[in-house]
Amino acid sequence: MKETVILTHKYLPEAEARLREKYRLILVEGSGLTLAETMEGNRECRALISFLSEKVDRDMIDLGESLKIIANYAVGYNNIDFAYAMSKGIYVTHTPDVLTQATADLTLALILACARRIVEADEFLRQGKFTGWQAALMLGKELNGSTLGIIGMGRIGLATALRARGFGLKIIYYSKPRLPEIEEQYGFVYSEFSELVKQADIVSLHIPYSPDMHHLFNREVFDLMKRDAIFINAARGPLMDEAVLAEKLEKNELFSAGLDVYESEPQVTEKLKKLKNAVLVPHIGSATHYARLQMAMMTIRSVEQALSGQTPAFLIPDWRQ
Ligand code: DGY
Repeated sequence: MKETVILTHKYLPEAEARLREKYRLILVEGSGLTLAETMEGNRECRALISFLSEKVDRDMIDLGESLKIIANYAVGYNNIDFAYAMSKGIYVTHTPDVLTQATADLTLALILACARRIVEADEFLRQGKFTGWQAALMLGKELNGSTLGIIGMGRIGLATALRARGFGLKIIYYSKPRLPEIEEQYGFVYSEFSELVKQADIVSLHIPYSPDMHHLFNREVFDLMKRDAIFINAARGPLMDEAVLAEKLEKNELFSAGLDVYESEPQVTEKLKKLKNAVLVPHIGSATHYARLQMAMMTIRSVEQALSGQTPAFLIPDWRQ
């Protein structure tokens, strides 16, 4: 008999088909049931493939009486009470590496869109306001010679920094621990957190979310930024106080912000939506066909490994510590 696997949301069709070949697949999205109800009705379920938008907390984990693995369809896994899962011997896996380049591309797209006011300019033209070339129309920020402050020099932070270097940006970074080999290899300069925030013309977040990082960018920290700086967040929404950011942008106390993530997705602070100096995209960092398919295949491989008695290859880092 096929083992039961629960998938919280629709996959790419080719990935879903592969799951169906091997397992009794139960898809929560579109079933009219919640994940908890689905788990309750399928206590024999061996694997849960979760989307980052799905909270897999203690109660949910307890419903999975036969659960061997929670395979998160994302590199970040702050949606899962992984410590509790681990304490029950349930594997937790994620999807690193395959989405690094796509997410770094999106980060650069946000930086460029903010610096050169692309969304605002597009809207201006479509509204019929382009009446001729003007010397001071839509003046933006020069990237060449500006300083990009990367917070979190992990895989995505590094891929972003390497791209940004090609635009003539000087790279400073803050990471724990400090990374002397990266400094030596690429000439990136380490900076203490507050110094980075003060010095950077563009601040870009590339750290995972954990409760101790909640509102890392609060009013006090946003106040340290240059008044003409750009703030980029393609990491996790709760790292920033969205209301304070909206207020700073509204008062033009920042040049602009490019966001791929939000504090309470899919809700977005209403004020932000009205601002011309906010570029807002719907959590599409890893949204290339290549990345999303690779991510799906990694979750499937993890399930296959766990259910055949092997240790999955893509365990979350916390598992290894
Ligand atoms: C992740 O994988 O954590 C990303 O946020 C998905 O886009």
